[in-house]
Amino acid sequence: MNRRQFLQGVGAFSVLVAGGGVYRAVNQGVFSSGTGPAFDAWSDWQSSSEKGPIRMIQAGILASNPHNTQPWLFEVAGNRIDLFADTSRHLGSMDPYLREMHIGLGCAIENMMLTAAADGHKVELTLANGILSPPAANPQMTKVASFTLSPAAKVQSPLYDAIPKRHTNRFNYDANRTISDNALAELLALAKDEPEIKIFLYQKGSSDYQTFAQVTVTSTETIISDHTMAHDSFAWVDQNWQEMQNDKDGPYIDTSGSSPALRTLVKMLPATSQEQFDAGWLSNTKDHMESTAVVGFIAVPDLYDRAMAMQAGRMWQRVHLWATSQNLAMQPINQMPEVVDRDRQLGRASTVPGVMDSLTGEPQWRPTFAFRMGHPINETLPSARRPVEEVLI
Ligand SMILES: Cc1cc2nc3c(=O)[nH]c(=O)nc-3n(C[C@H](O)[C@H](O)[C@H](O)COP(=O)(O)O)c2cc1C
Repeated sequence: MNRRQFLQGVGAFSVLVAGGGVYRAVNQGVFSSGTGPAFDAWSDWQSSSEKGPIRMIQAGILASNPHNTQPWLFEVAGNRIDLFADTSRHLGSMDPYLREMHIGLGCAIENMMLTAAADGHKVELTLANGILSPPAANPQMTKVASFTLSPAAKVQSPLYDAIPKRHTNRFNYDANRTISDNALAELLALAKDEPEIKIFLYQKGSSDYQTFAQVTVTSTETIISDHTMAHDSFAWVDQNWQEMQNDKDGPYIDTSGSSPALRTLVKMLPATSQEQFDAGWLSNTKDHMESTAVVGFIAVPDLYDRAMAMQAGRMWQRVHLWATSQNLAMQPINQMPEVVDRDRQLGRASTVPGVMDSLTGEPQWRPTFAFRMGHPINETLPSARRPVEEVLI
């Protein structure tokens, strides 16, 4: 926050009090975070007595997903659940081939599989195959996975216990703490039985980390200077409390990694412009690269294979749940893969794929997801969710 923003904030606060604006402030959620109907899905999960398909869907909707678009719909018939991609919720030029959408669907699948095991169901899971392509002009529902349940012994894993505690942490992390070698080995082992997934990690201080950080920052600049991408990204950001409580989706200031004081000010000030949002994103990305212990990629053999994208999503959810169980913080930082998609869409050549190849040293593995991790300094808040009733067909 610069001096001008601070003075604006002080001014807004004076007006708020002098004008008897406390009612308005309450209405704008200035004094509330993480409460209200948009967060009921998190408390429903804790209090639910459901055991079958609905319980699995209650877990699915708490999963990580791109820009909090929650691009899922579910249909239940007896002991079977079908999962559909809701392409009306796509991110436009930020995700032109629906690759990130399918990663998000994979995240939901992972939560559902962990829940099935904990509740005593064996699952026959079928993932749709095929090549990802730009969405049709008319939004469609595409079936991407089916779960058929049968009885089995209960298996409750620490990852299952982490489902309601996992939140994306966009704060700076402790710059003075590294991640132990044991923890990194455990993380890599999460992918050991997955022939189509490979995880690459880079520790702060290495030249590879430096390259990863620099190209993440320049990729952020590429996205910001691409008006269409910047617009498509910003379109999902909730500008105020009421909008967030109504839509129950999208990113919101409370989960942006800002301090409580700044969050309060932003809620009182006029709506943030796209330019202010982008400037904040770039500056945060630079800061994050200074305070992060480890960055990494999840890679697959083919970026645009539908089933592989969902497998990568299952892996990200697993990694993030594991980190949560270890009290480690994580945030996806996908600017590099997003630029690769946009290059392909525009038929443009950029240096990003070559940089990623040099980082992995194994060009047969295509990084489809990038993330950072470290020891947290700040607690994170949950993000909004549409409840089960709103995503059941
Ligand atoms: C495919 C995918 C891409 C994502 N990319 C980013 C990203 O680049 N930056 C970021 O801050 N969060 C990113 N996220 C995290 C989502 O924004 C986050 O999961 C969503 O807002 C819900 O919040 P939660 O994870 O706290 O539940 C991504 C998540 C997925 C699944």
